[in-house]
Amino acid sequence: GRCVVAVDGPSGSGKSTVSRRLASALGAQYLDTGAMYRAVTWAVLRYGVDLGDVEGVAKVAGGLDLVIGTDPAAPHVRADDVDVDADIRGPEVTAAVSAVAAVPAVRQLLVARQRELIEAAGRIVVEGRDIGAVVAPDADLKVYLTASHDARAQRRSLETAASVDDTAADLLRRDTLDSTRAVDPLQQAPDAVVLDTTAMGIDDVVARLRAMVTA
Ligand code: C5P
Repeated sequence: GRCVVAVDGPSGSGKSTVSRRLASALGAQYLDTGAMYRAVTWAVLRYGVDLGDVEGVAKVAGGLDLVIGTDPAAPHVRADDVDVDADIRGPEVTAAVSAVAAVPAVRQLLVARQRELIEAAGRIVVEGRDIGAVVAPDADLKVYLTASHDARAQRRSLETAASVDDTAADLLRRDTLDSTRAVDPLQQAPDAVVLDTTAMGIDDVVARLRAMVTA
């Protein structure tokens, strides 16, 4: 039957790995909403639109052909017929994504797309920053993952092959950007289950969440 799980939290909290594995375990689809903001950012950079040009950024978002695969075994993103899976994780997109995600028209557009994808899937694990609070307030389970700053930097640097120090600095910069601007996407829904994953292995986190879904 229908089952929507919202997984929110800062980067490095373990969201992506946990959400994918949970989706596979539940026989559900998987939606990485961060990848959608990253794909729009990739397009903004590709078409040479200034990050401060809010109307230009909104126009790129509105005209972009964004295809997002929701199979947890093989998530993929295509933007204007280009396979962007690798590029959207690169340093250029990562440095610019917070600015693009702060544009209200971009958020409106992507939130609407996300709701359509959730509706079509029925059974789906959705990860992001505002899923439980904004995108899917009627989700069956809302989870808010946290972890210490050190643990988050260590996990991210393993994923990206960048040094822990560089990653820690970048995390701090993005956390600050995401939380000090007018549009802070990171929201903890009042009815979210908060899980601190600092001292937990991925398997433990997935098992805990799985038990909550079936309970
Ligand atoms: O999760 P990920 O690190 O890929 O997200 C990249 C960026 O996209 C975040 O730093 C945030 O600025 C934005 N984002 C957002 N709302 C979401 C998911 C991501 O604003 N639901």
